[in-house]
Amino acid sequence: MQNRIAKGKYGYFDAARREYVITRPDTPRPWYNYLMNDSYVALISNTSGGVSYDKDPTLYRLLRYRYQNVPYDRPGRYVYMRDNNSDEYWSGCWAPVHTDIAKCKYECRVGTGYNIITFTYKGIKTQVTYFVPQDRQLEIWDLTITNISKKVRHLSTFSYAEFAFWGAMRDLLNIDNCPNMSLQEYMKGAIIHSSYNDIGTGLDNMNFVRHYGYHISSEKPYAYNGDRDHFIGNYRDERNPIVLETGKSTNYCKTGGYPIGCLEHRFTLRPSQSKRIIYQTGIAKNEKSVFTDSRKYKNHANVDRAFMEVKGGWDERLGRFKVKTPDKEFDVVVNSFVQYQASMTMRLSRSISSYEWGMSRGMGFRDSCQDQLGMMQGFPKHAKLIISCLVEALYPDGSAAHNSYPLRNRYDRAGFYDDHNWLAITVCRYIKETGDFKFLKERLKYVGIKKKGTVFEHLLKCNNLAWKLRGKNGLMQTGHADWNDSLNPGDMESESTFTSALFCVSTKELIELVKVIGKKKLVDKLQKRYDTIKKLLNTSGWDGTWYKRMIRTDGRILGSKRNRSTAKIFLEPQPWAVMAGVISVGRAKKMLDAVEKYLGCEDGHRVMDKGFDVFDMDDIGSVTVIPNGIKENASVFNHASSWMIVAEAMLGRGDKSMEYFKRMCATTKNMKPDIHEVEPYVACQYISQKPFHIVGRGRNSWLTGTASWMAVASMQYIIGCRAEYKGLRIDPSIPAKWKGFYLERVFRGIRYLITVRNPQHVSKGVKYIKVSGVRIDGNLIPYRKTTKPINVTVVMGMQK
Ligand code: GLC
Repeated sequence: MQNRIAKGKYGYFDAARREYVITRPDTPRPWYNYLMNDSYVALISNTSGGVSYDKDPTLYRLLRYRYQNVPYDRPGRYVYMRDNNSDEYWSGCWAPVHTDIAKCKYECRVGTGYNIITFTYKGIKTQVTYFVPQDRQLEIWDLTITNISKKVRHLSTFSYAEFAFWGAMRDLLNIDNCPNMSLQEYMKGAIIHSSYNDIGTGLDNMNFVRHYGYHISSEKPYAYNGDRDHFIGNYRDERNPIVLETGKSTNYCKTGGYPIGCLEHRFTLRPSQSKRIIYQTGIAKNEKSVFTDSRKYKNHANVDRAFMEVKGGWDERLGRFKVKTPDKEFDVVVNSFVQYQASMTMRLSRSISSYEWGMSRGMGFRDSCQDQLGMMQGFPKHAKLIISCLVEALYPDGSAAHNSYPLRNRYDRAGFYDDHNWLAITVCRYIKETGDFKFLKERLKYVGIKKKGTVFEHLLKCNNLAWKLRGKNGLMQTGHADWNDSLNPGDMESESTFTSALFCVSTKELIELVKVIGKKKLVDKLQKRYDTIKKLLNTSGWDGTWYKRMIRTDGRILGSKRNRSTAKIFLEPQPWAVMAGVISVGRAKKMLDAVEKYLGCEDGHRVMDKGFDVFDMDDIGSVTVIPNGIKENASVFNHASSWMIVAEAMLGRGDKSMEYFKRMCATTKNMKPDIHEVEPYVACQYISQKPFHIVGRGRNSWLTGTASWMAVASMQYIIGCRAEYKGLRIDPSIPAKWKGFYLERVFRGIRYLITVRNPQHVSKGVKYIKVSGVRIDGNLIPYRKTTKPINVTVVMGMQK
C-alpha cells in the first residue's frame, strides 16, 4: 500500500510501520522527533542532535543543545566508530564527522517515540535505536555494530553525551561558576555528572539543590572520557576530537570542567559478527540510584521489551482512530503523523523544540486549549490533567493567565481577550469524548485566592467576562490582541470579529452542555448572548462579502474592501463564523469563495491579502516588525489555514475541504523538501509567501496549533467522526468521488468498526445508519456500554 505514495528526495512514508524514513542525512535542516514519557523528554534530530530534560526544561536540563549554532543540531547523542587498524573514524549518526555521503549508506526511521539510525561505512554497519522507556527518567541508545566486510576488524566505539548544567539560564549565563562547580566523576563504569543547581528566584533567594545525571553502558567500558576539553582538544570540535584521532581515551573525569559522558569499548569483530552495546543517559536521585536505576536496562531482553512497549503503546493510542479511504496519502498521514504530532503538542505545548528554548512560554492558555482538541481519544487522562491546569490558570474574574508555569506556580496575565473564550470549547470536547460529567463538579483553584470553584463555575465566569468585555458596537473587545498575537494596535477596546465568532462557538458549546445537564434558565441567558453577537457580527461586523477583522475605537476598520493601503480581507474570522453557525450556508459559500480568491495559494490560505510594509507599532502592532510575507504578516500561517478545511467540511463541500487539506499535508510537503526545508512529516507554523523572497519555505515545525487543527480537520470534519455527549456522530464531508471508507474508532473504550458507503457519490449527508444490523434514525451512534466491538454501516446519500 505505502509503495504507491511517491517518495521524496530525502525520504518516504512507511505506512505499515507509521514511520517516515529519511534516506539521506543532509536534509535541508535537521529534522527532529520527540522521545518521551511523562517525565523525561528528548528532542532528537535525524543525525541525533538535540536537548533533553526531566519534568521542566527550565530547571532540569540533562543534555545541552546550542541554539542558533552552526550546524544547527549540535551537540548530539553521538556514537563514534574507530577502526584501530586504519586509524580512520566516523560516526554512526553521520553527524558530527559528516563522512562523504557518496561513500556511506544512511537511513533514519522516524517512528512513534523512537529514531533508528542505520549507517554503513567501510564494511561496518551500525544501527542505533534511540528511545525513552516508559518507566525511567532516561534515554536509551541501543547500538548494534556488525562487520559486513570480509576481514577481521579491530574497532573502538566512543559514545558522546554533553551534559548541561541543569538550569537553562544558569547553563547559558553562569559561565564562570557552572564549570567550576561541576562535580563529575567516573565510578564503576558510569560517568556521573553532578552539580548544585540554583532553583531559587535570584541572588537574594538562592536555593541550591544537587542533581545527578549519568551515562552508563551495558558492556564494561575499555576506557572513558569525562571532560569535553580533554576529549575534543584545543581548537577542535566534535567533528575531529583529538581522542578519536589518536585512539587514546583520556580516562580523565574530574571535578571542575565541562562534563561529558563518553565511554570507549574496544573489540574485534570477525566477518558477519555483531556486537550490541546499550547506553543509558539519565537522571538519578543520588550516586547510589545511578546504579539501581540503570540496572534494568543493562539487560538486552529488558531493552527489547521496553522498546516494544513504547511502540505498542503508540500503536494502541493511534489505533483508536484508523481509517482506510480510497486516498492512500490521506490515510498515511492521518493514521500516523497527524495524530502523532497532535499528541505531542497536547502534552508539550510550545515548551521546547529547535525554535523554542524551553523557558519563555510556559503553558500558553489559548494554545493549550486548542492543543487538546485533536487527540483527546488517545490521551484522555493527559488531557484532563492539562485542562485542570488551565482551569486553575483563571483569575477569579474569569480572565486567564496567558502563560502559566504550573510547576512553579507562576501565572502571567497579559490581557488577550480571546483567551477565556477557548476553555468551554476544550472542556466540552473532553466531556464529550470521555463522558466524564463529574469533572464539571470538581473544585479547582483560581489564581491568587484561596477559594475554589467548580469547573462549571469557572466556565461561566469566562463567559460572563467575555460578555462584559464588549466594545462600542457591542462586539467583543480585542484587548492586547486576539488569536493573532501580532495584531495588537494598542487600543484595548477595539473590537475583534474573530473573538466575537469565537465567543459564539464557545457559547454554543456551553448552551449544548447546559441543556444536557438541565439548567433551563441559563440556556435562555446564554442563547440571548449568542443571538446578540450573531446579529452584530452580521451587521457591524459584516463588510459586504466577508467579515471585517477589527473595528478600531475611532471607527477605522481593519480588513475591509474599502481599504486602499492595507488588507481588504483577513482570514481568521471567516472560517470561525462558519464554525459559529452565525452565517447562512448560501452566504458562507460565497464568503469562503472570496477567501479562496483573495487568500488561496498553493500552500493553503494566507492570513490576509496584503501584508504590512511600514513599521507602525502604535497603530497596527508588532505584525509590522515582520517582513511582508512571513509569519502573521500575510504568510500561510498553517494554524489559521487549517480552519478553512473545517469550515468547508461544515458546509458540505468535501472536495474543497480535501483540496485544502492536501495543500497543507505532509505528503505534499514531502515532494518539495528543498523549498519547504523543515520536516515534511509534521506541520510547521507558517509557509512564506510573496512578496517575501522565497515562496514556500516552512519554519517553526512541530509545536504549532496547526497540529491539533489538522487532526480536528481530518478526523472530525473530513471523516466526520465526532464524539458527542450521547454518542458518536458520523458526519463525513468527503470528495464526491469516494465510494466510501472504513473507520475504526475507539470511543469510551468501545471499538466501533464503521463501514461508510457512498453509492450516490455525495460529499455530505447520511441516509441511514445500521448499528449491529439495526437501522437507526439520524447519524448519531448512541453510546451504550459493551465490551465487544460494534459493527456499524453508514450509507451516505441524498435525503428524500
Ligand atoms: C503563535 C502563538 C499562538 C498565536 C499564533 C498567531 O502560534 O503560539 O498563540 O495564536 O502565533 O499569532
